[in-house]
Amino acid sequence: MKYCIANWKMNMDSKSTFIYLDNIGKLVYKNKETFDKASMIICPPYTTLDLMSNILTEASKGILDDVDLAYVVGLQLGAQNVNPNNYGAYTGEISIKMLNQYGTEWVIVGHSERRSLFNESDEFVNLKVQAALDGAINPILCIGETLEERDAGRTEEVLFMQLKKCLKDVCVKKDFLIAYEPVWAIGTGKTADCRTIELVNDMILNILKELKCDIQNPKILYGGSVNNNNAENLSKICNLDGFLIGGASLDAEQFYSIYNALKGE
Ligand code: PGA
Repeated sequence: MKYCIANWKMNMDSKSTFIYLDNIGKLVYKNKETFDKASMIICPPYTTLDLMSNILTEASKGILDDVDLAYVVGLQLGAQNVNPNNYGAYTGEISIKMLNQYGTEWVIVGHSERRSLFNESDEFVNLKVQAALDGAINPILCIGETLEERDAGRTEEVLFMQLKKCLKDVCVKKDFLIAYEPVWAIGTGKTADCRTIELVNDMILNILKELKCDIQNPKILYGGSVNNNNAENLSKICNLDGFLIGGASLDAEQFYSIYNALKGE
């Protein structure tokens, strides 16, 4: 199973979410699509989880009036962040239990924007991974080096430390998603080349072995300026299991065409 994940970041209101899903539904219908070969996951802002969850639930029950929207059935819902505590005085935060209310199946943790803008440490990311797994939500763990670290030849060391700390005491018996997102490729239009991604993906799998991680089925995704011009080429990377897409996922047609490029491999 491959994974095509949209990270909408702080974009999209209710109206644009509705139109977006309607457009995805139209494309799915036109192409007689099913989501069984590759998962399509959308991580909207918290404010539209409720709307998306209602649409997805009604689509699965077959009770939607809107014909196009009905075809989004099978699409999965993710969140962009979570707090590892169950409840309490954490102003502005959202817990796993709250995400559970909306049928959220996935949550992004360790994104470089959370690390750099909100000072989140690997130790905190580890708490999120554990809380997500305890609450039956699948984490999408993001790791990646900065340009400085890459230029200094420290990529492996950085990824090793991130994985070591973020995956401490983690045990997973199913697919576990790790998104390799080089910080210098996020939102910059500079994509890592296929060879670099292939090498890093192998590096990640080796690190997991070295750390004796109890993860049965690691899946390695790539994120960083993926778009509909480079997706086909990137999807040929032999050890790649999917994409995490920011900017290009805001357009339904573009996201759908990236999904198809991935699925075609
Ligand atoms: P981008 O973002 O596709 O806009 O580079 C990727 C991400 O931040 O996950």
